[in-house]
Amino acid sequence: MAVTVNTLKEIKQAGDKFTCLTSYDATFAQLVSSAGVEVILIGDSLGMVLQGNDSTLPVTVEDMAYHTQCVANGNQGALLMADMPFMSYATPEQAMETAAVLMQSGAHMVKLEGGDWLVETTRLLSERGIPTCLHLGLTPQTVNKMGGYKVQGRQDQQADKMVTDAVALAEAGADIILLECVPCDLAEKITQAVDIPVIGIGAGNKTDGQVLVIHDMLGATTGHRPKFVKNFLEGNNSIQAAIENYIQDVKSGAFPSEEHTFK
Ligand code: KIV
Ligand code: NA
Repeated sequence: MAVTVNTLKEIKQAGDKFTCLTSYDATFAQLVSSAGVEVILIGDSLGMVLQGNDSTLPVTVEDMAYHTQCVANGNQGALLMADMPFMSYATPEQAMETAAVLMQSGAHMVKLEGGDWLVETTRLLSERGIPTCLHLGLTPQTVNKMGGYKVQGRQDQQADKMVTDAVALAEAGADIILLECVPCDLAEKITQAVDIPVIGIGAGNKTDGQVLVIHDMLGATTGHRPKFVKNFLEGNNSIQAAIENYIQDVKSGAFPSEEHTFK
């Protein structure tokens, strides 16, 4: 049966965990979804892992639409979440146009990076039938403003704002909050503060779901490997087994462990 926003809410209410992985093409979408991963993220990380750019900023709405279509063609029942690329949702009007393109390409939900400035946009999309995931913490599209890829929410003021932003966005109709590179305790606090599911990456094992970039979790990424990444192909002899191992370890709470977590 196809995964919906309700499935994820039920998983949260039951105190269970769900998984998310990125995919950008039909073959991986097929592998990931048939293994039982609940959510596939068509991430703008494709700007880095597919296109070889050093940030996600060059990714266009056209790029996202193309890869969303590819993933939709291979998908076996996962919920498809597509990233709204850099500066494609700077105004609520622009956000609605971009979201329409991605939804018509096969997405079931769109993801936007940012806090309370997106309350109105979230409400408008929600009213028009478009589920949203709001990405807080380390938001790669604002890397130039953050001055690098750094853990977010370490100062009390920044942490408090992340909590109030998450609550405001949930009240505005957001369906998922995604937290990237935030201390474990803060991620736990936010997960308890909202009724909607919270997905983490580099946010400890207390969130309702986990996400990784598929290239990272298969050990295919060269160069710097962030602390929160685990190579699941190590000790497994197929991509399928690696994905199954990831699902198992997320559901049991074994991943992420201390070594993949920020304090
Ligand atoms: O683009 C992406 O893959 C993402 C995840 C890292 C959350 O946004
Ligand atoms: Na992204």
